[in-house]
Amino acid sequence: MLAIIGGSGLVRLSNLERAERREMSTPYGAPSAPLAVGTINGRPVAFLARHGDEHTIAPHEINYRANIWMLKEQQVSRIVSVAAVGGIRKEFGPGALVVPSQIIDYTWGRRSTFFEGAGAPVTHIDFTEPYADGLRKEILRAGSACAEPIADGGVYAATQGPRLETAAEIDRLEMDGADVVGMTGMPEAALARELGLDYAAIAVVANHAAGRGDSAQGISMETIGLVLEDAMRRVRRIIERLAVQ
Ligand code: HPA
Repeated sequence: MLAIIGGSGLVRLSNLERAERREMSTPYGAPSAPLAVGTINGRPVAFLARHGDEHTIAPHEINYRANIWMLKEQQVSRIVSVAAVGGIRKEFGPGALVVPSQIIDYTWGRRSTFFEGAGAPVTHIDFTEPYADGLRKEILRAGSACAEPIADGGVYAATQGPRLETAAEIDRLEMDGADVVGMTGMPEAALARELGLDYAAIAVVANHAAGRGDSAQGISMETIGLVLEDAMRRVRRIIERLAVQ
């Protein structure tokens, strides 16, 4: 089954039909929300609100392990993460959709592995390519099929949040090679890999990153809300297409 993890701007999948809500506890605690399982065009799709149904769980407070564990337990095999980001690369302005190809992790203090604790064997997953290539291509194909422009590739920088970055931090991220910046991409992607789940992302550019473009003097939360509202309409169309591919 395909699962969508929705971030800011996507707390519900309005095109999910006949959805039932499955509540679950896990050995790692409670997931962000019950899993909504329904169909899109007759195909089973699950949806999880990453920040909770009421959007109350901050990026560093999310129980990523419980979320990914729940998806595995519920027979999910493919995860598409939808995540708001700031755009660093010039072409990635507000409203752009990007399927990232790489990750740099700047987060800290998050529970970021299933392989720890008493008796757990030391395990190092291969993470050279952090996203599942086949699933990335399926997302890109779905975008083309419904004529929604979606960029192929980019480096996602995962920051700790919940505050936004300083302009100098964005300069540094750019020097590191980052193209977009968000707060939730890690450890989510690594945990999915640890459990053998295919994972890819649609990064939705909500704003120019700090110090760039119209964010030169600051970032307006109000504008972000409007940009995301429009962009998520496009993301829903892509997901509809993806579900039937
Ligand atoms: N930085 C980090 N995370 C974000 C941003 C940003 O500028 N916009 C949306 N999520």
